[in-house]
Amino acid sequence: MNIVIKQIAFDGAEHKKEIELRYKVLRRPIGLNYTQEQLDAEKDEFHFAAFDGEKLAGCLLMKAIDKDEIKMRQVAVDETYQGKGVGKALVLYSEKFAAENGFSVITLHARKTAVPFYAHLGYEIVGEEFIEVSLPHFKMKKDKL
Ligand SMILES: CC(C)(COP(=O)(O)OP(=O)(O)OC[C@H]1O[C@@H](n2cnc3c(N)ncnc32)[C@H](O)[C@@H]1OP(=O)(O)O)[C@@H](O)C(=O)NCCC(=O)NCCS
Repeated sequence: MNIVIKQIAFDGAEHKKEIELRYKVLRRPIGLNYTQEQLDAEKDEFHFAAFDGEKLAGCLLMKAIDKDEIKMRQVAVDETYQGKGVGKALVLYSEKFAAENGFSVITLHARKTAVPFYAHLGYEIVGEEFIEVSLPHFKMKKDKL
């Protein structure tokens, strides 16, 4: 396995692989799919991908909220690659991107099952548990980038 992390364009073959992976990892297991409207709204977001050769192992999006805050979204690692450091590499890469681009706070909505993963990487829970896409979530943030 030789993982290369990079930013990818909003359209094209790599983006298509990103949508397929997100559907497989994040939506199909809960019986949902993305609408075209939701996907179109991601045009101005930053799309990051972890490739093992031609195979997409993981992805992560970032959405600018204001000049200081950027939101991490849609973190997904293919099941066969989970637990091998791919998620961590994506998060670290996106943190560097955020810092280099002048953001000082990263926020995210973590599925309850993924809270230990983000906590391990220095993210703190902010506020109470809430439901999103039918699953329990916590808002988390990191402000020492
Ligand atoms: C959650 C997810 C993104 C983590 O990515 P991953 O590639 O499997 O995780 P990594 O192998 O990079 O783990 C990084 C570190 O976090 C730790 N970690 C990962 N998942 C953990 C968990 N559930 N509990 C505790 N620690 C965890 C690892 O032990 C590792 O520690 P180390 O750096 O000391 O070795 C991935 O498993 C996934 O896509 N899961 C399904 C979808 C999902 O829940 N996405 C997040 C939505 S908010």
